[in-house]
Amino acid sequence: MFEKEVYANRRNKLKKLINKGIALFAANQDAAFNYPANIYHFRQDSYFSYFFGLNHPGFIGLIDFESGDEILFGNDFDIDDIIWMGPQPALSEQAAKVGISETYPYSKIADYISKAKGSGRAIHYLPPYRGEMMMELGRLLGMPPHEVKANASIDLIKAVVQLKEIKESIEIIEIEKAVDTAWLMHTTAMKMAKPGMNEREIAGTIEGIALAHGGPVSFPIILSINGQTLHNHYHGNELKEGRMLVVDTGTETTTLYSSDITRTMPVGGKFNQRQKEIYEIVLKAEMDTIAATKPGIEYREMHLMAARILTEGLKNLGLMKGNVDEAVAAGAHTLFFPHGLGHMMGMDVHDMEGLGENHVGYDEHTHRATQFGTAYLRLGKKLKPGFVLTNEPGIYFIPALIDKFRSEDKFMEFINYDKVETYKDFGGIRIEDDVLVTETGNRILGKPIPKTVADVEATCGEKREWLKMDGVF
Ligand code: GLY
Ligand code: MN
Repeated sequence: MFEKEVYANRRNKLKKLINKGIALFAANQDAAFNYPANIYHFRQDSYFSYFFGLNHPGFIGLIDFESGDEILFGNDFDIDDIIWMGPQPALSEQAAKVGISETYPYSKIADYISKAKGSGRAIHYLPPYRGEMMMELGRLLGMPPHEVKANASIDLIKAVVQLKEIKESIEIIEIEKAVDTAWLMHTTAMKMAKPGMNEREIAGTIEGIALAHGGPVSFPIILSINGQTLHNHYHGNELKEGRMLVVDTGTETTTLYSSDITRTMPVGGKFNQRQKEIYEIVLKAEMDTIAATKPGIEYREMHLMAARILTEGLKNLGLMKGNVDEAVAAGAHTLFFPHGLGHMMGMDVHDMEGLGENHVGYDEHTHRATQFGTAYLRLGKKLKPGFVLTNEPGIYFIPALIDKFRSEDKFMEFINYDKVETYKDFGGIRIEDDVLVTETGNRILGKPIPKTVADVEATCGEKREWLKMDGVF
């Protein structure tokens, strides 16, 4: 947790952006895993955490934009809780840690809301993403649960995006800690990627590293020799010589800030010629677009730049043909690169995605494309200093997509399908780093994680030993 002034400052900034009504920020509740007392690891709501800091379930933080009041609703522990959970701070002590002096028992929130409603005041809240929260907010707001999300406050969404998209220096420090742990996760995976290993042995080991350094992972680990499946969470394959392993993973810090890094490594430690050729294209797209990242540029332009670099490289290998700009304008590259170049990252790995991707990644000047593939781009708008984003181009050979496009005679003038057929056993390659937009350009965050062919191969050849990162806890 940060100093209490951090949370007070954030609430004060929010109060400057909205001047009518009240805002509710609900902490997450514990969620049952397979029976009520057996719960999932508790993950606080990122917006409650941003404004109210406490990593505790079942609270509601309230801000009154007219009176300026800030209240924490929650329950004190009783002796039964203390027997099972150990000594716990009082609600008022918890509130004081984040600069709040007014607290009430949770049962009082319903009265507070109905009074506000009775006097016609706006009740702002963010769209909930968990079923339990929809039910609880529905109960408090007097609304059917399925209507709660649609009635969330657009003013509050916009104000929260405006604040949270610009990362404070203390947030950058946390994100860099998360990247440093990802360094250990990825270099460990490289050292373990040997023929005969099972994917789950590597996935389990690196998830353990995340947990040991404050974790958990920031999203379920994507780790597969079938890297052509973009979000492959199946970890039951045996690693075989000649395949590559795509590892897309990151962790959260104890303050909930994420990392999200992808590396692709050759099973057995050496890329073959065909793999190296595709790898170099993806690496060029990644490094050149990062180098071009700076304030004032639309991220959509970075995405299209990556698409042109990938197309050029695939054309040089005879997999694509024709004019590069025309191929990209037509969307022919999406056969190989059917996702967006990157997304905002912060406390959520897809930062604030729950508020609506278009509120976060687009604005009145930049609208989401409708074209297949490019429509998946989560971030298109102009970059500002303080944005943290991922940059993650890839090239994939997805047999079902190749068959589909070919059977529809799609992009015949840009794709050399006969050659593409010979790559159907290739898999995929993705390379991803986390990047801060600075006043003048950008900075790749955290300890550099091997990514050139030579550096990845050298790391794959190193012996694995237990390493502890300093300063990550
Ligand atoms: N790293 C997973 C994703 O960006 O969707
Ligand atoms: Mn990502």
